[in-house]
Amino acid sequence: MNDRIQKITSEIESFVASGKEELEQFRLKYLSKKGEIQELFKAFRDVPPEQRRELGKSLNALKKLAHEKFDHLASTLQTRESTNIGFVDLTRPAEEIQLGSRHPISLVNNRIINIFSRIGFTVSEGPEIEDDWHNFTALNFPEEHPARDMQDTFFLEKDPDVLLRTHTSSVQVRVMKNSSPPIRTISPGRVFRNEAISARSHCIFHQIEGLYIDRDVSFADLKQTLYYFAREFLGPNTQVRFRPSYFPFTEPSAEMDVTCKICHGKGCNVCKFTGWLEILGCGMVDPNVLDKCGIDSSVYSGYAFGIGIERTAMTLFQIKDIRLYFENDLRFLKQFTSAVE
Ligand code: DAH
Repeated sequence: MNDRIQKITSEIESFVASGKEELEQFRLKYLSKKGEIQELFKAFRDVPPEQRRELGKSLNALKKLAHEKFDHLASTLQTRESTNIGFVDLTRPAEEIQLGSRHPISLVNNRIINIFSRIGFTVSEGPEIEDDWHNFTALNFPEEHPARDMQDTFFLEKDPDVLLRTHTSSVQVRVMKNSSPPIRTISPGRVFRNEAISARSHCIFHQIEGLYIDRDVSFADLKQTLYYFAREFLGPNTQVRFRPSYFPFTEPSAEMDVTCKICHGKGCNVCKFTGWLEILGCGMVDPNVLDKCGIDSSVYSGYAFGIGIERTAMTLFQIKDIRLYFENDLRFLKQFTSAVE
């Protein structure tokens, strides 16, 4: 019996319990009525009288040890649970972190800002709610111009007119009024037009306006700057061409096309088999506009340009429908993670 007591003593001493199930096993094995210690007490009855004293002592000590061990195990488990440490499986794979991605409009916007800031252009911002003077009058729009019509512009109030700006060119007016040449700035922002929503047009979109004013600024400066921009933006082999156009606030005015990034000028679906894509409007700031904004047109000249972000991003990423930009569908937005600057 002594050997048995020794064996159970060392078993109990080395017992570890990492959960409630093991604690219960311990109780059943050593402390229950049918447990091993109780069995020893039963067997004790047959022990000859001369051994009783010694064995009785050891047996009682064993019983005490088992109870103490049980209490100790139970309280350690409870502390673990209440401090919530529990069992930590360090080999478990970590949960995947869901990283967001930039919206394609922001990607293109940031890239354009980056390209122009490298050649000294600052960023200026203006309000989305404008008055007639900054959006139209100062920019030489005649009274009867169709853009001033309710069909094309969202008016918030009439007489005096308050409207949602139809282009970011209103910011060039604000910059010219508030500072003096040399001026070299770009103005990114949201613009609004009362247009039916379709795959190619939306009532909300984004533009970046550019403005450069100094002494002796010529059309050659405009062309060279935009050529630099096109190559930085679309790759070193990009070619540009300028087509005559009309804007009330520039004279002469032009549209700039770039060689199609997809077919490199050979002709494809994206460029409608012309090999060229229109990406911006531009021109020399009309002297009337300079004078209206407090800049002496006999001393200074300048150029301006306006880039439509949605259309540009559509050609860059081959996006077929402008509405996708505004729907916030993650399946669409996630595709541009790898296209970061
Ligand atoms: N404001 C024009 C538009 O919304 C874009 C534009 C064209 C801006 C020529 C300019 C410019 O500054 O010179 O269509």
